[in-house]
Amino acid sequence: MPEYVVEFGKDGGPVEPDGRLDAAAFHRNHKPIWTVLEAFLEGKSGDVLETGSGTGQHVVHFAARSPEITWWPSDFNEGHLNSIAAWRAHAQLANIRPPLRIDLSDPAWCPEMHDGRGPGALVAVFCANVIHIAPWRVAEGLIAGAGRYLRPDGKLFLYGPFKRDGKHTAPSNAAFDASLRSNNPEWGVRDLGEVRQLAESNGLRLAEIVELPANNLVVAFGRR
Ligand SMILES: C[S@@+](CC[C@H](N)C(=O)[O-])C[C@H]1O[C@@H](n2cnc3c(N)ncnc32)[C@H](O)[C@@H]1O
Repeated sequence: MPEYVVEFGKDGGPVEPDGRLDAAAFHRNHKPIWTVLEAFLEGKSGDVLETGSGTGQHVVHFAARSPEITWWPSDFNEGHLNSIAAWRAHAQLANIRPPLRIDLSDPAWCPEMHDGRGPGALVAVFCANVIHIAPWRVAEGLIAGAGRYLRPDGKLFLYGPFKRDGKHTAPSNAAFDASLRSNNPEWGVRDLGEVRQLAESNGLRLAEIVELPANNLVVAFGRR
C-alpha cells in the first residue's frame, strides 16, 4: 500500500545537516511525472508554480531539465519550506525562486501573487500527492487559484491516485483510501469526476489523463 506523508523528516528519516529532506516516493515517481510535464513545457518559457512541494526534490529535478522555465516552489509547512530552500541552495539553479508560503485552503494563495513579488500569469501549476492528504477545501483553493492565475494556454497538473466513476482503480488504492480516512475523516482518495466538476466551476476543462505506474494518474486541466 502506498505510504502517505504529513510531514517529511518527522519520523526520524534521514535529514541532511543543511535541512534537505528526502521523500521515498520522489525516487519512484519523478521520472514518469517529468515525461508528462516535459511534453507540455517543451518550447515554452515563463513561470511554473508547484504547490505542496514537500521536500523540494521535484522542483529541483524539473528545473534542471527546463532552463527556460522559472520554477516557484511552495508549501505551508515550516519544515518543508526549510527543506525546499535547502534543496534550492544545494542545486544552485538560476531558475528556481525561493519557496512561497501558500496555504491552499486560501483561494487567493498568498500576497506575492498580487503584489509583484510572485510569478506572473502561470504556464502551469503542478501539484503532486496533496489533495487526498488534505481536506476537500484544499482542492477547492488549489483549483480556484489555478483558475485565477493560469495564463490562457496554461495547465494545472495533478498527480496522485484517483477514483474513477466513484470506484477505486486498484485494491491498493482502496486500502490506501481507508487508511487515509481512518487517520483523518476529511482526507481520502478523490473521485476524478468530482475534481472535474470543481475544475469546470472554476473555468477549467479536463484536457488529459495519463496513467502512471502504481495506479497513479497525472490529470491535466486547461482553460475552457
Ligand atoms: C504527501 S506530501 C507531498 C509532497 C510533494 N508534493 C511530493 O509529492 O513529494 C503533501 C504536501 O502537501 C502539503 N500541504 C498539505 N496541506 C496543505 C495546504 N493546506 N496548503 C499547502 N500545502 C499543503 C504538505 O505540507 C506536504 O508538503
